Amino acid sequence: MIKEKPAELIKSLNDRFSDLPVTEIIRFFLSEFKGKICFSTSLGAEDQVITHLIAGIDKNTPVFTLDTGRMFQETYDLLDITEKRYKIHIEVFFPDKQAVEEMVNQKGINLFFESIENRKLCCHIRKIDPLKRALEKYDLWISGLRREQSVTRENLELVEWDSLHRKIKINPLINWKYDDVWSFIHEHDIPYNTLHDRGFPSIGCQPCTRAVQPGEDIRAGRWWWELPELKECGLHKR
Ligand code: ADX
Ligand code: SF4
Repeated sequence: MIKEKPAELIKSLNDRFSDLPVTEIIRFFLSEFKGKICFSTSLGAEDQVITHLIAGIDKNTPVFTLDTGRMFQETYDLLDITEKRYKIHIEVFFPDKQAVEEMVNQKGINLFFESIENRKLCCHIRKIDPLKRALEKYDLWISGLRREQSVTRENLELVEWDSLHRKIKINPLINWKYDDVWSFIHEHDIPYNTLHDRGFPSIGCQPCTRAVQPGEDIRAGRWWWELPELKECGLHKR
């Protein structure tokens, strides 16, 4: 557990790696921080790129996903396909049963549509608390965030201090554009969520994700009833 933000280390890692190719970045972090680093995958397009790269470097890297209990069947199918294709295990973390029961019985099964407060509570119980548990053993985690994804992500750095979990977070794809992700996926025949072919550029929980129209923002389908600047579940508090 890191007690204080290692500001100098973060700065030097950013200076050294920000402009290097993604494979080199991942290779360095997996070897330098072996045993201390993990990858959190939502099985989204970006994360499939990272899984592909990690599996090509070190199949023993801890990889996990957070199953909120409200995912699409297509996402579960992809989890299964990805494990088989890369011969890796993706550990699944679930929310606390009692917390979910209390929330649903007090506020309703579809509470998230009723207020931002309810939506954040649901994300907290179903995603953020399990993420905290998943990260416990590690000092660093890898995520598939990209700067271009939204107004809330424009100022991302390759290496960041995650003050909520007190971990170092690595975002190897920060500079990638949407088209870079998809060219890479097709070039390497990487398995991806079939919903992407049906108008879902960004996929989260089933009730909180819808397809977007051509020309709409790539995250317009996530919590579509909320304002863009509020659309973070809290996994990436900065
Ligand atoms: S979210 O905050 O809006 O849900 P997004 O779907 O863009 O996040 O994913 C960004 C990154 O957050 C992913 O690359 C992944 O590292 C992490 N993440 C998001 N959802 C999950 C999940 N269900 N399980 C594990 N990691 C996740
Ligand atoms: Fe709950 Fe929706 Fe957040 Fe999923 S995205 S945890 S269903 S509020």
